Amino acid sequence: MAGLTSSTIGRKYAMALSAMFLLIFLVMHLSVNLLSVFGESAYNNASQFMGYNPLIQFVMQPVLMFAVIFHFVMGFVLEIKNKSARPIGYDMNKGSANSTWMSRNMLISGAVILAFLFLHMYDFWFHEMNYKYINGLPIEETRFWGDLHNKFNDIWRVALYVVSFVLLGLHLGHGFQSSFQSVGARHPKYTPVIKAFGNWYSILIPAGFIFIAVYHFITQ
Ligand code: HEM
Repeated sequence: MAGLTSSTIGRKYAMALSAMFLLIFLVMHLSVNLLSVFGESAYNNASQFMGYNPLIQFVMQPVLMFAVIFHFVMGFVLEIKNKSARPIGYDMNKGSANSTWMSRNMLISGAVILAFLFLHMYDFWFHEMNYKYINGLPIEETRFWGDLHNKFNDIWRVALYVVSFVLLGLHLGHGFQSSFQSVGARHPKYTPVIKAFGNWYSILIPAGFIFIAVYHFITQ
């Protein structure tokens, strides 16, 4: 790990691997939360399983936390190193002439997503940890759907979530294909396919999250 993060190429590689892990997490997270739209018991059962399975709780969850923190810290480190390596900027880098606004401002969208995650952890995760591990309350299979549904009764929370998901989409729009490039996956035939898939991914995943938040708001 130290070897991987001691050079710029290694850091970009490690950053891309953490991004790919998070891309997979988002698909799983969306799938579980979409169940809340299709039925209370389906969502309660899935949450009960995920929330009390030792492999998920004590292996997958710490790995996920590490990946999230690593991705954000490494994003800042890469940005600072890039800036200090070329304080005046490349002559070639003429803004929108050869790069998109989002590719030049991944740190801004990343910071908004980080702010969203603080709110999100406060909304759901801390509550869960408190319930199970601090207060040691008994298993209650039917609480999950109601907890989630009630969170979205506040229009400001829904609005903050929706704005964050739009920025998540923009972040993913560049990040998806960039992570493949960083691990050296470049091929005249497959790169356009990866880009097209990335574009669909970065629209459909945030749209799915927006749908969940809005659905629970309008069905209060
Ligand atoms: C409407 C959209 C979303 C809903 C309803 C939702 C719901 C939840 C719930 C209920 C939990 C607690 C799980 C538990 O520990 O039992 C959770 C945790 C978490 N969420 Fe979300 N989430 C949404 C969107 C997102 C997005 C877009 C991200 C990432 C950018 C995200 C990242 C996380 C992370 C990192 C955790 C903590 C790890 C975990 O326990 O799974 N969530 N979310």
